[in-house]
Amino acid sequence: MILYLHIPFCDSKCFYCSFCSYTDKNNLKEVYLEAILRQFEREEKRFNISEKSITSFFTGGGTPSTFSPSLLSFFIKKITHYLISNAEMTIEANPNSATFEWLLGMRELGFNRISFGVQSFNDEKLKFLGRAHNQKQALEAVENAWRVGFKNISIDLIYNTKCDNKKLLLEDITIASALPINHLSAYSLTIEKNTKFYKIQNAQKESLYLAKYVINLLKDNGFLCYEISNFSRGYECFHNKGYWQHDDYIGIGCGAVGFYKNKRFYPSRNLEEYIKNPLLDKVENLSDEELLFEKIFLSLRSNTGLEFAKLPFDIAKKADILLKEKKCVMKNGRFYNTNFFLADEMALFLTS
Ligand SMILES: C[S@@+](CC[C@H](N)C(=O)[O-])C[C@H]1O[C@@H](n2cnc3c(N)ncnc32)[C@H](O)[C@@H]1O
Ligand code: SF4
Repeated sequence: MILYLHIPFCDSKCFYCSFCSYTDKNNLKEVYLEAILRQFEREEKRFNISEKSITSFFTGGGTPSTFSPSLLSFFIKKITHYLISNAEMTIEANPNSATFEWLLGMRELGFNRISFGVQSFNDEKLKFLGRAHNQKQALEAVENAWRVGFKNISIDLIYNTKCDNKKLLLEDITIASALPINHLSAYSLTIEKNTKFYKIQNAQKESLYLAKYVINLLKDNGFLCYEISNFSRGYECFHNKGYWQHDDYIGIGCGAVGFYKNKRFYPSRNLEEYIKNPLLDKVENLSDEELLFEKIFLSLRSNTGLEFAKLPFDIAKKADILLKEKKCVMKNGRFYNTNFFLADEMALFLTS
């Protein structure tokens, strides 16, 4: 079982972002803490959590670095006895708010992995994206994280924006590669509804050529692609792999999502509504066919693979065609995609 906690507070709203986050409700942090503690108490029973059964805990956002170590410590106390002794504990952070003291506080709370939303090291591109930090702050934040003892550090980059070209991406990846990080996520910009970019023309430069350039450059610098947007230089994120393998996950917070057996739980994305009643959520029931199709889509986008023997006969027959065409490979009874760019196309072929 894995656990996700959502912190829906941000210092400012980036122009591309549609995540559940608020920039003007900092006065609600304490009552939010009370609400997440209440929701967790309900999930303890609903998910039937037993001692030492949670293998990873991920705190994401929004911006967790807007939440103080002392506030977060109340939640950590509540979950500690459920965590296995070497649980992966990841916290997301933004370079402008992850101060040395905050990073130290997170280490003291037990976090052993940190993921920074860097997006780029180019100050012009950072401005274009509406980010609240610059290159200098990003470099300092990663170096400080290393200094306080984080050995598993990841950064997020965004590419395929209007600003991107080979020269800029080469600079971004060269700078990233010199940092003490063992993981990198590189996302192709998507234009989401209700964002500033949705209203302007040409923020995105959708280019398969640049995407392949990024992947090859990362490979040359020792970052291997283990999911369409995730790259490991010696460390694959255990928590993410849990999602792709359809493990059960507890989702705590406004805008978080939980998954148990064949059900998904969606607490409110409205902060005031969530605080008022953190136990209220929408429940989605998934059929066996929906679960199987999801599993196929997720596993073809990553190196988690699919157990061949468990595939229904008609899908296994089509999978066999992909094996014969050398688009996929079999290892120890599992079926793996070798080209993540074709993942969605292959998944459609298998499921239609
Ligand atoms: C949960 S988000 C937020 C993390 C953190 N608040 C931050 O922005 O620094 C994780 C990552 O998703 C990526 N992301 C968010 N919206 C995106 C979009 N529209 N297109 C591509 N990547 C996006 C960004 O790289 C971001 O760092
Ligand atoms: S990208 Fe991150 S920092 Fe920016 S608004 Fe979204 S959640 Fe907040």
